[in-house]
Amino acid sequence: MSQSTQLAITGAAGQIGYQLAFRIASGQLLGYGQPLTLRLIEIAPAMKALRGVAMELADCAFESLREVITTERLEEGFRGAEYVFLVGAKPRGPGMERSDLLTENARIFSRQGQALNEQADDRAKVLVVGNPANTNALLAASNAPDMNPRNFSAMTRLDHNRACAQLAARTGHHARSVERMIIWGNHSATQYPDLSQALVDGRTATALVDEEWARGEFLTTVQQRGASVIQARGTSSAASAASAAIDHMRDWAHGTRDGDWVSMAVPSDGSYGAPEGVYFSYPVRCADGAWEIVQGLELDEFSRDKIRITGDELVAERSAASQLDL
Ligand code: NAD
Ligand code: LMR
Repeated sequence: MSQSTQLAITGAAGQIGYQLAFRIASGQLLGYGQPLTLRLIEIAPAMKALRGVAMELADCAFESLREVITTERLEEGFRGAEYVFLVGAKPRGPGMERSDLLTENARIFSRQGQALNEQADDRAKVLVVGNPANTNALLAASNAPDMNPRNFSAMTRLDHNRACAQLAARTGHHARSVERMIIWGNHSATQYPDLSQALVDGRTATALVDEEWARGEFLTTVQQRGASVIQARGTSSAASAASAAIDHMRDWAHGTRDGDWVSMAVPSDGSYGAPEGVYFSYPVRCADGAWEIVQGLELDEFSRDKIRITGDELVAERSAASQLDL
């Protein structure tokens, strides 16, 4: 068992967890046949459902899956974890903003940061999916003083993938032919989906679409996509979120495509005028299990303004979180 990679998922009986656990167990993150242990964490009312998830995982007879641990104890769930997906949280409903979840979810992520600090592998990669993801990542990292804050990140990969899909559809190409998309800032309606650096099949995107669309419909469609899915399904995106979580972790661990980058919310060093210290989504390149913010991109006034707006929102969320009695 010792050679089995340890992966922890919180909220594993929820919508996203139900997708994520099976995709990981089938080898879609670490590679087909790579031995792994799933450490599935839930709260007491969902433990019965979680045992059902474990039964189904067993019934899949996956080549990779060595062991499934189901627990409501964070200490047990995070023990030795090398990859951690912090998904478990309350999702928003129709008419809510993701920041409306701050009060309810802040306590969860602070407590999880403390438990990770005690139990997880020192080099564990932690991806925060539960909303408001950027500020939850900040709270988890701040409560894990022995871990490197660079080992925490929040998910804007779903927004990145959505933006690639929108641009691909507009230009009549496949989403995989889009490179160098950027999501700046917060995983919220202030995020700035930026195609100014993007390539489609190797051609400059700005030469293929008009500026009015790039700064209007494209922007709002990506910013509001989560809300549109909630309106359509009556519940928030789950399969696409699990897919993006695997994309995020895989690229972080195994590296981004040559010449390309991805969007990840990582601790800000102030690059591109973003506020320092918040978890801010940047274009990043990953290699050897580490990420670096892509530097040296030319930004115009429009982009700088959008980066300021989403940065201001993250500073306000940080300040609101600091006033909570956790
Ligand atoms: P869900 O309600 O279906 O599942 C959440 C699960 O988490 C539930 O089973 C619940 O019992 C569990 N849970 C709650 N508190 C917990 C805790 N303290 N510890 C462990 N488990 C706990 O929700 P979902 O659709 O799976 O969404 C989960 C989160 O992901 C929500 O916050 C949602 O807004 C967010 N989300 C983020 C993105 C993104 O792009 N960052 C995308 C989609 C959803
Ligand atoms: C999404 O972007 O789909 C998720 O963050 C869920 C939501 O609340 O929008």
